[in-house]
This record gives sequence, structure tokens and C-alpha cells, in this order.
Amino acid sequence: MNDGEIVELSSEFANIYSVEDGERILREPELVTETMEAAQKGGFDHFMLKEIYEQPQVARELIHLYEKSEDLDDVIGALKQAKNIYFIGCGTSYNACVSGAVFFNRIANRAVFPVAATQFMAQYHQSISSEDIGIFVSQSGETKDVLNAVEIAKKRGMRIYSLVNVVGSTLTKKSEIWLPLACGYEISVPATKTFTNQLIAFLYLAYRMGDKSLDDFDKLPDLMENEIKKSTSIVQKALPFVQDWNDLYCLGYGLSFPIALEGALKLKEITYSHCEGMLSTEFKHGPLAAVTNRYPVIFVSTLNDIPLIISGINEVTCRGGFAIAVGPENENLRANANYLIPVTKSTDEISSILSVIPLQLISYYMCLARGFDPDFPRNLSKTLTVD
Ligand code: AGP
Repeated sequence: MNDGEIVELSSEFANIYSVEDGERILREPELVTETMEAAQKGGFDHFMLKEIYEQPQVARELIHLYEKSEDLDDVIGALKQAKNIYFIGCGTSYNACVSGAVFFNRIANRAVFPVAATQFMAQYHQSISSEDIGIFVSQSGETKDVLNAVEIAKKRGMRIYSLVNVVGSTLTKKSEIWLPLACGYEISVPATKTFTNQLIAFLYLAYRMGDKSLDDFDKLPDLMENEIKKSTSIVQKALPFVQDWNDLYCLGYGLSFPIALEGALKLKEITYSHCEGMLSTEFKHGPLAAVTNRYPVIFVSTLNDIPLIISGINEVTCRGGFAIAVGPENENLRANANYLIPVTKSTDEISSILSVIPLQLISYYMCLARGFDPDFPRNLSKTLTVD
């Protein structure tokens, strides 16, 4: 359905009418290829856990899809020619935009503006033009804040590309080109598999933009599978350090900064504990004052950033705080943090993607420990179609 339409639905028929004049609208139906099985928990206690476990498989499918897609050559060509590139989204999709911008800088030497959709108007609307490309990122393709930004961008002539999970959604219809996330249904309110596939999509584009080899990339789904298997028990052992706290931080730097933002968002969303995600280097500029005895601070690190992250860890531990590190197995990181959740060693880009998995699992198990339902957190809905 489109905006301004109403449907009369029965087991026999579905008639669409215009709200404005009541006239019947005739339209060819589109076939939804998902099965009913995809909308069931399939033996898992919650959709969230099922969707966390589906990440390697949907990653595999996305990589396969992109590698055989000929349309992507045009996308890469256009991105190379663009004057400015913007990545625009909300919530988890915004966090993926920040990761995308770091990937583009590191791999393709290309500066990108990641921006929360609602800030797009205030920050960039006067500066954009038809020489620019915006990649609008959304699981649902129906988020009103994102669609508002699309309207503003269109008026200025900007080219509208998108990265969307729901086929046939409004965002796909408003885009010149849309790239699928190919995750199938994501039913649980907290986004998980769509976040990792958003990162994979951006990483793929960055590799192609930078004319780099895709060899490391193909190993990613297997690494994700291994990460899920090995993290679960390690994460569960970390629960006593965090689960009773109503306030904590999740910090990262560079590639792990957006991962820390996403980890904090997951924790807030389903544990109802306030968790602030921020740059580890900003912590000493004020928030450090919050640290008391055993106050939990989660540090996310990639291999190259370990020395800087250790400096942040020491600021916390010397004040009695409790530092949990999520990063590659490393002697110094293990020695300095109070608890280490090791992430498989790989390139920094790939490890940044892997490191969100333990954070998703901490949120999930902490949510259960606090007696809440991860799939349907209070006050939230899966798709936000209001301003
Ligand atoms: C993520 O866990 C949240 N449910 C929320 O932040 C979400 O990512 C945001 O509302 C944007 O949704 P979209 O990707 O469907 O546009």
C-alpha cells in the first residue's frame, strides 16, 4: 500500500481505495517470498536470540548477492564521481552509518558525512546539491524521520540511494537505487542481524571503492558463527559485574566507537539500564566523575587501538571502577582490564563487526536476568512512523 490508501481485507479478497475520493485502486499484487517458518521462533526462546544466531547465514547470503550483482558496478561508479557522500539513518541504522564512514575513510580514502536523519536538515540542507549522493539506511524503510530527510534531499536534487531490509517499503520506492540487506524478517524490536548486514554492506562498498581484495571478507560469516558459539558462556560469566547496575558506559574509539554506540543502545533498549555509548577518549573530559567502586565500564577495542583503550581502562580502574574489555585476545588488554571478552583476531574492520556480537549477547542475557522480554521492550515499537 501507499500513503493515502485504505484496504478492505477479507479471506477472499483485498481491495484498495483512495482515502481522498474513495475510488477503488487497481494494482498488480507483489509476491512475498518469505515463508511462515521465517516468522516463527524456530526453537529459540526469543526472536532476538534467533536473529542473533541468524547473523552468519544472512551475512553469507548478502555477500553472495553483492558479489554476483552487476548493478553494484554502477553504484560504485556513481559514488566515486560524487562530490559529497552522506550516510543517513536513525538509531541502530545511524550507528551503522558511523561505521560505514570509518570504513570508507580507512579503506577507500574517502570522507563521508554520517548523520542522524533528523539532524540532516539543520546541518546539511543548505549545502547539498545534485552532485551529492545520500545513502539512506533503514531496516523497515518506513521510519518517518528518514523519509522526511529523503524529501528534503530530493528538493535539493541530491541523488537518493538506500540500504533497506523490507522489500517494497516506502524508502525503496523513493530511491533511485536501493540495495537490499537480505536479512528476511527481523521481528524482535532490537535490531541485530540488520545491523551486522548494514556494516557488511558498507564494508563491501568500501572495499570496492578502494579497489581492494575481498578475500578477508568471504571469511566473515564463519568467524561470526564461531564468535556466537564462543562468546555465550564468557558473556554469561560477565553478567554479575553488570546486571544490577542501572547506569553504565560503553566506550570505543575509531572503528569500535560506533560499535560502542550500538552496544549501549541495545543495553538501554532491553535492559532499561541507562548505558551511555561514547568515545573512550571523551570519557576523561567529564563522565569519569561517575566512576565509583565497581562501577562498570565496557571498553570495545580493535587490535591497533589497544594502547589507547588501555589508557582509558586505567583511568577507570585506578578509581575503583570495573573495566570489561571486548577486543582481540591480547596479553596487555587482559592484564589491564578486570574482565576480557576475547574477539577473534582479524583485520580491524572485521573484528569491529565481530565485537558487536558479545555486546548483543550481554544485552540479551542481562535483559533476561532482570526479568524483561527482549522482543517487546516497553515504550518502543519496531517501526517509527511518526515525527
Ligand atoms: C534498534 O534496535 C531500534 N529498534 C531502533 O533504534 C531502530 O534502529 C530505529 O528506529 C531505526 O529503524 P529503521 O532502521 O527501521 O529505520
